[in-house]
Amino acid sequence: MDYFVEEREAFNDYLREQWEKPESRLEESMSYSLLAGGKRLRPVLFLATAALYRDDWRNLLPFALGIEMIHTYSLIHDDLPAMDNDDFRRGRPTNHKIYGEALAILAGDALLTGAFGFMSDIPGEKGDKLLRAVNLAASRSGYRGMVYGQSLDVAAEGQELTLNQLREIHYHKTGDLMVLSLTCGAILGGAAEKEIEAWEKYGENLGLAFQIVDDILDEVGSFADLGKTIHSDAESEKNTYVTLLGLSEAKKAAAAAIEEANASLKEISRDTDVFQRLSQDLLVRKA
Ligand code: IPE
Ligand code: IPE
Ligand code: MG
Ligand code: MG
Ligand code: MG
Repeated sequence: MDYFVEEREAFNDYLREQWEKPESRLEESMSYSLLAGGKRLRPVLFLATAALYRDDWRNLLPFALGIEMIHTYSLIHDDLPAMDNDDFRRGRPTNHKIYGEALAILAGDALLTGAFGFMSDIPGEKGDKLLRAVNLAASRSGYRGMVYGQSLDVAAEGQELTLNQLREIHYHKTGDLMVLSLTCGAILGGAAEKEIEAWEKYGENLGLAFQIVDDILDEVGSFADLGKTIHSDAESEKNTYVTLLGLSEAKKAAAAAIEEANASLKEISRDTDVFQRLSQDLLVRKA
C-alpha cells in the first residue's frame, strides 16, 4: 500500500516506543502479540480519518494504540482452544502456545482495560469529544458490538445459519471495530454529524467485505501470506460466506459490499479518494 504511509509509520513507531520494554511476564505476553506485526488497518483508518479534518492528528496516537490493543486482545482470545483453537497468528505461534492459556486470557484482559487507559488520557483533547469517542469505543467493542458478534459466531458452530444471520455476525464481530475506528477518527477530527454517519455506513460495509474476504482466504489463501493456519473455519464447522454461497458468489457479495461502502464516501466533503482505493485493495488482498 503506497498510501496512508505517514500514518502507518507514525503508528508503528509509537507502538514500538510504548511496548518494546515489557516490565513483567504479563507485559511480555501483551507485547509479543502487539509487536508481531499485522496490517494495522484499524488504527491507520482511525488516524487517516482524523487527518482529513485536522493537521495535528499525531496527538491522537494514544487513541490509535488503544484501538489496536482492543483488536489484538480480540485475536488472542479468538485463537484460544475454547474459541477457534488456532496455533498461528501474525506469522508466529499464538499467544497461548507460548505463554499458556491462563496468561493469554490475562494478556487479553489487560490489553482491553489498558486500551481505555490510553484512549482516555490524551493531553490537549477536548473533554466532550474525547468522552464521546471513548464511550463509542466501549459500545462498539463490547456486548452489543464485537464481543456480541464473537458470541454468535461460536454459538453458530455446526449449526445452519441463514445469510441474514451470518451477515449480522460479520457486522458485529468485524464491522464494529471498523466503524469504531472510522467514526472515532471523524468525531475527534471534529466532523459534522452527517459525515460521522457516512463514515459509519462506510465502516459497516467495509467490515462486512473484509470478513467475507477473510472467509475466502481461509479457503484459498496461503499460510505464508496470511501468517495463520488456513482451513481453520472448516475445522471448527463455522458458517462462512464460502460455506453458504460458494466461492464465486462470496466474491460477488464482497464486491457488492465494497461498492456500497464507496457510495457512502460521496456524502463526505473531504477528499476520500484513497479510501476508495483502500476498499478496492481490500477486495483483492492476499494477507
Ligand atoms: C483478523 O484481522 C481478524 C478479522 C477480523 C478477520 P486482520 O486481518 O486485520 O489481522 P491483523 O491485524 O492484520 O493481524
Ligand atoms: C475473527 O474472525 C473476528 C474477531 C473479532 C477476532 P475470524 O475468527 O475469522 O478471524 P481469524 O480468521 O481467526 O483471523
Ligand atoms: Mg473467530
Ligand atoms: Mg479465528
Ligand atoms: Mg477467519
